[in-house]
Amino acid sequence: MTAGYPQVRLRRLRLTAARRRLFDAPMPGPEKLVWPVFVRPGDGAREPIASLPGQYRYGVDALLRDLEGPVRAGIGGLLVFGLPDEGRKDDTGAEAWNDRAAAQRAVRAVKRAYPDLAVFTDVCLCAYTRHGHCGPLRPDGQVDNDAACAALARVAVSHAAAGADVVAPSAMMDGQVAALRQALDEAGAADTLLMSYSTKFASAMYGPFREAEQSAPQSGDRRGYQASTADLRTALRESALDEAEGADLLMVKPALFYLDVLARLRERTALPIAAYNVSGEYAMLVAAAERGMGDLRAMVRESLFAIRRAGADLILTYWASRLGEILEGSDAEVRP
Ligand code: PBG
Ligand code: ZN
Repeated sequence: MTAGYPQVRLRRLRLTAARRRLFDAPMPGPEKLVWPVFVRPGDGAREPIASLPGQYRYGVDALLRDLEGPVRAGIGGLLVFGLPDEGRKDDTGAEAWNDRAAAQRAVRAVKRAYPDLAVFTDVCLCAYTRHGHCGPLRPDGQVDNDAACAALARVAVSHAAAGADVVAPSAMMDGQVAALRQALDEAGAADTLLMSYSTKFASAMYGPFREAEQSAPQSGDRRGYQASTADLRTALRESALDEAEGADLLMVKPALFYLDVLARLRERTALPIAAYNVSGEYAMLVAAAERGMGDLRAMVRESLFAIRRAGADLILTYWASRLGEILEGSDAEVRP
């Protein structure tokens, strides 16, 4: 006899909150969440970001204050994005490897104030170049791949020297992982982890971030280096190559529109995988909730579950600063 209805009734497993507690996987804990933050010159500054409600551009002192809550909640780490004064941008992005720039100062201050918190840094040039691309431009307007790799390696070394636990190149240049690993090892930073933004798509979901960072390309777009949404095989090769080049962690970005990529990558690698729940994904839920189109807490929880279920070990998410609101309480109280 094949087991089926009416003997089998799957609703028995989920009929009550008590039973659901027994069989449901837990929410990803705060220790799996990493908070991306923007740091700028001007130590006391705490400037609201219009496109990312609830997120700020921080001076170093203000960041230390606002970190207290998330650290007490037990977040897994911080991902630092540095912003230069507008006047310090140039065509090569040299301010990115200035040891006294906001990102490097923030890393030092955070490691001093919260030595047990893992500090990640974004390694890219787009916030530091006048043209807003992720590396220096060739005369034909394309990013100069190998020059970008050399510059990114200098940035990573300066972040490691400031005390970063994890450096994370996000420029999508060929060979950037190998270039960073070699430079880190030569600089005596063999213990610094390297998390590659290994499969990073040319996505329309980065808009709020680019407003926060004022890093939108002045002309053209990033499709000449970021992975194509419509080419899955090459997107997966990007992660495979970065693994071969010595990445310690891989990443899929964005997260929610690319859960299939995350799930496939999970089957192909034994490396830890991070998923970046990007600015547009955050802003989308904030906007929907503000317009009464859904319950913010329930939508956020469901989306974090989905990212975890698809195979992410770590989730880079702006929600990490709002865990009190998002994670507290039992699932029974959250009405989908
Ligand atoms: C820059 C960078 C971007 C993001 C992280 N690093 C923007 C881009 O590539 O255009 C996006 C993060 C987000 O949208 O939250 N290399
Ligand atoms: Zn960039």
